Amino acid sequence: MLLKGKRALVMGVANEQSLAWSIAKKLNEEGVAVALSYAGDNHEKRVRPLGESIDSPLIEKCNVDNDSEIDNLFKNVKERLKSIDILIHSIAYAPLEELSKRTVDTSRSGFRTTLETSVFSFLATVKQAEKIMNNGGTVLTLTNYGSERVIPRYNIMGIAKSALESAVRYTSIDLGEKKITVNAISAGPVKTLSASGISNFRSFLEMVEEKSPLHENITGDDVGMMATFLCGPGGRHITGSTFHVDSGVHIVGA
Ligand SMILES: NC(=O)c1ccc[n+]([C@@H]2O[C@H](COP(=O)([O-])OP(=O)(O)OC[C@H]3O[C@@H](n4cnc5c(N)ncnc54)[C@H](O)[C@@H]3O)[C@@H](O)[C@H]2O)c1
Repeated sequence: MLLKGKRALVMGVANEQSLAWSIAKKLNEEGVAVALSYAGDNHEKRVRPLGESIDSPLIEKCNVDNDSEIDNLFKNVKERLKSIDILIHSIAYAPLEELSKRTVDTSRSGFRTTLETSVFSFLATVKQAEKIMNNGGTVLTLTNYGSERVIPRYNIMGIAKSALESAVRYTSIDLGEKKITVNAISAGPVKTLSASGISNFRSFLEMVEEKSPLHENITGDDVGMMATFLCGPGGRHITGSTFHVDSGVHIVGA
């Protein structure tokens, strides 16, 4: 077990399909004790049994739009785990109506909500995690190719992912002093709860099959394995970067 004895907080499990859950499972297989957080009471009945199946030391609600819930989560993580080695931030949200209009028509409140939940939450949770990472550590977040190229209907979320990747670069400088690495995984399309909010999602899956160098779609496990690598000794000197796990589709022009 490559990561035996390490402790992680994985944020953003909604159900079995969540990329956060794929990462949590893979980390646990490598010996990591994995605490989980979920957004709201309506997620608890799905998340708690998942956490119990990997003996999670803490399974707690944390709506990242609420500062006191973030403070409370990290206070409890500290009490229960003392310190952590790994933070996984796998959280994003955009109001559905913002994804069905032109990007130029994005509303002020839709912009605020999307950027606050999907990007500010990264800064806010990294800030808290840094305080309880005593011995170096790894921070990972999840992004999407829509940060670099235009994906139809991704709109404001594409803008948010560009900002998130920039936040990865800037925070890697801040946390580098403590030997904490910060990276993003840019995942190809995987059918999850969030993905189901994108109306033409099926066409992304078809595009990867048709056009990517590997001609096949990825699974959550692929993302979990990349996360495990970055959290292990191989990731020790890798920071401030975004890694594509997408069968190579991001290199295809036409
Ligand atoms: N599924 C894909 O195709 C894909 C591809 C690339 C990147 N991603 C990214 O992966 C991450 C995880 O998404 P997923 O596809 O696993 O879907 P998911 O719906 O399983 O996960 C998204 C999570 O964000 C949480 N969340 C939303 N608002 C929140 C809030 N206010 N407080 C706390 N949590 C909140 C949801 O509850 C959910 O657990 C997201 O950042 C997403 O953009 C997904």
